[in-house]
Formats: sequence, C-alpha cells, structure tokens
Amino acid sequence: MFNISSDLAYLGMFIVRKDLRRQGIGAKLWSAMMASAGERNVCLDGAKAMVPWYTKQGFVHHGHRVVLHTVRVTQAMKLGGAHAAIKVASLGNGMWPMLLDYDRKVYRNLDRNCRERILRACLGDADVKAVMATNVTGVVGYGSMHRKENDAYGIRYVYADDADVVDALLRTLLVDVPEGSLLYFWPVVGKDVPERLRGGDLKTYETGLRMYTKAKLDIDENYTWLVSAHLP
Ligand SMILES: CC(C)(COP(=O)(O)OP(=O)(O)OC[C@H]1O[C@@H](n2cnc3c(N)ncnc32)[C@H](O)[C@@H]1OP(=O)(O)O)[C@@H](O)C(=O)NCCC(=O)NCCS
Repeated sequence: MFNISSDLAYLGMFIVRKDLRRQGIGAKLWSAMMASAGERNVCLDGAKAMVPWYTKQGFVHHGHRVVLHTVRVTQAMKLGGAHAAIKVASLGNGMWPMLLDYDRKVYRNLDRNCRERILRACLGDADVKAVMATNVTGVVGYGSMHRKENDAYGIRYVYADDADVVDALLRTLLVDVPEGSLLYFWPVVGKDVPERLRGGDLKTYETGLRMYTKAKLDIDENYTWLVSAHLP
C-alpha cells in the first residue's frame, strides 16, 4: 500500500502463494491493507477475475480501462513521421512546472503536490526515459518509457492533445530502443492502437481496470492515450 497523499492511497501488490490460495489468506491481507488506508480514497489496478470482490468491498468507481498489448520494435517504428510543428525533448528539471500545468488538464481534481510526487516517482528512475512535446502554443503532451528485465520495454504514459503528438512522442521514445525488443503498452479503451505501434506481431492480452473506493478521479480522457495500469 502506497501513501499517495493525505486523502489517497494506492493498493499495489496483493498476492498469495499459489498453493495457499482460496483459504482466506488474501481476505486477511486485504483487511489489514484497508485498515491501514483508514478513511482515505483507495485506488487499485484490478485483476479481472477479482472485480466482483473489489466491488463488494466498495471499489465502485471506475477509472482508466486499458488493454495490454505487446509488439516487437521494428526499424519502421523508429523512423519517419516527423511532425515539423511539434518539438519533443527529454524532460529536464526546468520543465517540471510546465509539465505539471499540462498534467492538471488531465487529472483535474488531483492535488498538484500529490501528482508531482507520483510523477517524480514514475519519471525520475534511472531506467526511465521521459519526454515532453511542445508546439508554438506550449506543452501539448508528455510520455515515458521504462526498461524492464530481459531487454523488454514498457510505455508507461502517453498523454497528448492529439494523435500527431502521440506519434511524435512515440518516435522519440523508441529511437534508441534496439530493433527486436519486446515492447509492452496499454492503450486506453476507446483509443486506437497508435499507427506507429501496429507492427507485424502485435498481440493483445487482458483488460486492466483502475478502481477506486470513495470517489473517482476527475480525468479528462481526451488526453489519455497510453497508461500503464501499475505504479512502480
Ligand atoms: C487475488 C489473491 C491475492 C486472492 O488470495 P486468496 O488467499 O486466494 O483469497 P481468499 O481465499 O482470502 O479469497 C478472498 C476473496 O477473493 C475471491 N477470490 C479469490 N481468488 C479468486 C479468483 N481467482 N477469482 C475470483 N474470485 C477470487 C474469493 O472468492 C473470496 O471472495 P468471497 O469471500 O466473496 O468468496 C490471489 O488469488 C492471488 O495472489 N492472485 C494473483 C495475484 C493477483 O491477481 N492479485 C490481485 C491484483 S490487485
């Protein structure tokens, strides 16, 4: 369980050893986690089979619904499609205020300090590449990718004004990824798989759902394109 802010907690790992499942251990762990959350709103990334249980426990508000995809990175994904009006740069320290202003358009009712804590935890890691897109009007999107084990990569976030910005962000994120690497990404349900990631061996897996207990976050889904269903 992570303390995200004074009024929001995030339920991360919830796992019982395979041979000991269905004996009530999970329910005991669950009670202890809920007790430690107290009166706060609690957020979790749901496993599909457990949704009836989460709902029974009061997780009745739904947030992002995402679908896990994988694809092998090809040369074509790293080239072309430059959008002259959109500039993409690695996220530097001086860019944080602008990024947080943009983020505020996406997560409309989440406290800015709280959001900064989440983003710094997600984007500040050594294995993470974070990029921000601008045009003449200012920030138009940002995204991040992290390196996983076995030379695989995961796109954690892509928030953007439109599909051209998504493409420009992905191009920059992928530019140094070796061809043939396995890429994990989670498009938000309702958004197409970005053109750039529609490679030959694109695979679709399970749906993930972010659920909340007391209140749903006010998220503007127009800006959400790819969102990982797990905080680090
Ligand atoms: C989810 C998990 C932690 C449950 O642990 P457990 O010790 O088997 O749970 P319990 O025996 O205490 O059961 C708790 C409740 O979950 C339900 N449940 C457990 N496994 C379930 C499954 N595979 N499908 C549907 N419901 C399930 C039980 O029916 C019970 O609900 P009930 O009291 O209404 O009948 C365990 O299955 C697990 O580790 N799964 C893999 C990791 C995972 O998916 N974690 C959830 C991500 S948030």
